[in-house]
Amino acid sequence: APNRHTRQHESAIKHVTGRAEYIDDLPAPDDALHAIVGLSPVAHGRLERLDLEAVRRFPGVVDVITAADIPGHRDIGPVFPGDPMFAEATVSYVGQPLFAVAATSYQVARRAAQAAVIEIDPLPPRLDPVAAAEASEFVRPTHTQSRGDWSAALANAPHTLEATQFVGGQEHFYLEGQACLVVPSEDEGVTVYTSNQHPSETQKLVAEVLSIPFHAVTVENRRMGGGFGGKETQAAPWACMAALISRRTGREVKLRLPRADDTRATGKRHPFSNRYRLGFDDEGILLGADITVIGDCGHSPDLSEAVVDRAMFHADNAYSLGDARVVGHRARTHTASNTAFRGFGGPQGMMIIERAMDDIARHLGLDPLSVRKRNLYRSVQDGKPRNVTHYGQEVDQHPLMREILERLERSSDYWARREEITAFNRRSPVIKRGLALTPVKFGISFTAQHLNQAGALLHVYTDGSVMINHGGTEMGQGLHTKVCQVVARELGLDLVTVRISATRTDKVPNTSPTAASSGADLNGMAARDAASQIRERLYDFAAEHYQLDRGGMRLEGGELVTGVGNVTRRMPWGELIQAAYLGRVSLSATGFYSTPLIHYDRDTGQGRPFYYFAFGASVSEVRVDTLSGEYRVERVDILHDVGDSLNPAIDLGQVEGGFIQGMGWLTSEELKWNDDGRLMTDGPATYKIPTFGDLPPVFNVELLEGHPNSQASIYRSKAVGEPPFMLSMSVWSALRDALASLVDYRISPDLDTPATPERVLMAAEALKHAG
Ligand code: MTE
Ligand code: MOS
Repeated sequence: APNRHTRQHESAIKHVTGRAEYIDDLPAPDDALHAIVGLSPVAHGRLERLDLEAVRRFPGVVDVITAADIPGHRDIGPVFPGDPMFAEATVSYVGQPLFAVAATSYQVARRAAQAAVIEIDPLPPRLDPVAAAEASEFVRPTHTQSRGDWSAALANAPHTLEATQFVGGQEHFYLEGQACLVVPSEDEGVTVYTSNQHPSETQKLVAEVLSIPFHAVTVENRRMGGGFGGKETQAAPWACMAALISRRTGREVKLRLPRADDTRATGKRHPFSNRYRLGFDDEGILLGADITVIGDCGHSPDLSEAVVDRAMFHADNAYSLGDARVVGHRARTHTASNTAFRGFGGPQGMMIIERAMDDIARHLGLDPLSVRKRNLYRSVQDGKPRNVTHYGQEVDQHPLMREILERLERSSDYWARREEITAFNRRSPVIKRGLALTPVKFGISFTAQHLNQAGALLHVYTDGSVMINHGGTEMGQGLHTKVCQVVARELGLDLVTVRISATRTDKVPNTSPTAASSGADLNGMAARDAASQIRERLYDFAAEHYQLDRGGMRLEGGELVTGVGNVTRRMPWGELIQAAYLGRVSLSATGFYSTPLIHYDRDTGQGRPFYYFAFGASVSEVRVDTLSGEYRVERVDILHDVGDSLNPAIDLGQVEGGFIQGMGWLTSEELKWNDDGRLMTDGPATYKIPTFGDLPPVFNVELLEGHPNSQASIYRSKAVGEPPFMLSMSVWSALRDALASLVDYRISPDLDTPATPERVLMAAEALKHAG
C-alpha cells in the first residue's frame, strides 16, 4: 500500500513535458549580451602575453574583461584563498579562466574568444597526487585521527595485510551545465539567476568582486538540472564574471558554458590514492589499522579540506577498525580544483576498507560476507567496546546495520546463490560470475559545524493559500516537495494549498549550500518552525475571538477543529484566515533551525561530527567475460534506511539514481588526462555515464520500514541524497569476486577504479599469471 506521504515531485509534470524552466530558458531582452570565457590551453606556466585586441575588435563584441578590470576581490576562493577569478601571472590548469568576452550572440562570443593571442611559458605540470604528497605539495595541511595504540595493535596482530589502491574521480555531468543570467539593477547592484547550490555564497562573491554591499546583490534559483555537488562552489565564478560585465555595460548578460568548456574548467570528484596496513585475528576481525588517504585536490583548496576529512570519517565505513590511525593528505596538482560530488569524499574513503574486507576474506579463505558481518560495529567484543569510531563518535543505531545486512542476506538469497555461482564458475573457464554484499554507513551533517543551520519564510494570504520559501535549492532531489509537505502537515492542509517559490537571498539570508544531504533535515525543520508559529498564533486568535478552548485545538483536513467527540466544532481554514486577517494577526513568519549535539575538534581529531548515521546495503551479481574484460551487472538488491520516510516515492528515486550514478563512477566513467594535463574525456563521446541499457535487469530496491530515526530529525526521517551512492560498491566487489574465482578464490585481485573492461581484463591476466 502506498505510504500516505507518497507524493509526486512538485515539478514532475513540468519536467516530463519540458515546461520546467532552467536558466537558459529564462527570457532575456534583445540587447542581452552573451558571454564566453577564454580558458588556458596550458596546465602550468607563466602567462607571458594575453593580447585581446582582436577579440575586442571582433564584430559584435561589446566587452572583454580580464583580472585588471575587477574593482574588488580578485581571489574568489570559497573557503580559503587560491582561486583567482582570472589567472594573472601564472596558470595552474588547462581550462583556467583568463578572460571573458561578451557579444551580441553566443556564436559571436565563441568565435571572438578564438581570436585571443595567448602566450604561456610552460612549466612542468604536476599531475601525480602521490608524487605531490611525497614532495609535500599540499593545498591544506595534513590531518590525522587516531584512537588507541594502533601501532602496538598492528605489531601484535596474528595476521597483517597491506595494500594500495587508486580510486578514480568523476565528472558531474549535470544535464544543465553551468549557467547564469545577470540583470543590472537601477542602483549599483545586480540580480543573478544562476544554476547554483549555494546562492548565499555567490551573493557574497559577486558583491566582493564588484566591491558593493551584499544587500545590493540578489541571487535566485528556481531549480537546477542536476547539481550533484558540482554547483556548490563552482557555479559562482561564472556569476561573478557575468555580473562584472553587466555592471560595466548596463545590460543583461547570459553566461552558459559550452559542455567541453564546462568539463575542462570545473573540478570533479577527487581521485584518491589510498593505502592500508591492517592487523586482524584468525576470524578476520580487525585489531588495528593504519590508513592513509591522498586526495587529488587539483590546483587550489576549494572544498578539499572538508572533502578529505569526510573521506577520513568514512575510512571505517560500517566496521570497527579496532585501534586505528587515519591520515589524510590534500595533494596539489595542476588540474581544475576538485570539488564536492555526491558523498563528498566519503565514497573514496570507504573504498579502502571495502577492499580490505575482500582481501582479508581471501587471505583467510573465508567468504567476504562473513568477514564483513564479523567486523560490523557492535557493542562489545572480547571486553572491548566496538561501537566507537576512530574519531570518537559512538555509532548509536549500530544494531540497525546488522539487521539490514541480515535481512538483505535472506531476501537476496545470498548463500544459495553463492553456492550456485561457485559451482557455475568451476564449470565455466572463461565466463565468471561474481556476487557481493556491501554495507553503507554515512554520517549526516556538515562537518563544518556552522553550516548546520537553515531559515525559512512563510506567508499565508487572505484566501488561505500558503507560500513557503527556504534556503535550500532544488536540483531534482525533491527538496521543495518535501518542504511543502512539511508545511502542509503542520497546518493540516492539502498539498495544493502550499506553493514554494524560487530560492532567493533576499527572502532567506545567510544560507548554507544545499549539500551534505542535509537539505530536508535543515530546511524542513526551519519550515516547520515557521509553520508552527503561524499555527500557534491562529490558535491564540481563535481561542480569544471565538471564545474556544485552546487546549484541544488542531488544524487538520483544511479545518480548525476544536473540542472532542460530538461537541467538536470545525471551521474552514479559509474562513479562519479571513477572520485572523481582519483581527490584525500577522500571517507571516520566519523559521530557523540549527542542528543540536554536533561538534568536532580538529586539533585532537575527535568529536561527534554527525547528528546521526544513515544505513543501507546492497547485493550485486555480475557476469564477466575474462577473455575480453566485458561484463554485465545482472541483478541488484538494495535495502536502504531513510528512517520514517518524508516521501517514499522520492526517496526510492534517490536510492535508484544514487546507486546508478555510483555504478558509473566505479565502472564506466573514466577521466583521462594526457601528459600535458589536458582532459581528453571532455564530453559524452569519450566520457561514459550509465545509460538505460546499463540498468540491471533485476533491480529490487526497498526502503527499510518501521525504523524511525533515533534522533529528533524532521519527523524522524533520514537524509537520502548521498548515502545510496555508495551502495554501488557491491558492483565493484562483485567484479573482484568473479575475478578471484579464476584462482579458486585464493588471491584478492587488484582492481583500481573505474573498473572498466580494460582494467578487468588486465586484472584477469595478472591473476592468471600469479595463479
Ligand atoms: N538528486 C538529483 N536528482 N540531482 C542532484 O543534483 N544531488 C545530490 C543528491 N541527490 C542531486 C540529487 C547531492 S550531491 C546532494 S548533497 C543532495 O541531493 C542534496 O539534496 P538534499 O540535501 O536535499 O538531499
Ligand atoms: Mo552534495 S556533494 O553534498 O552537493
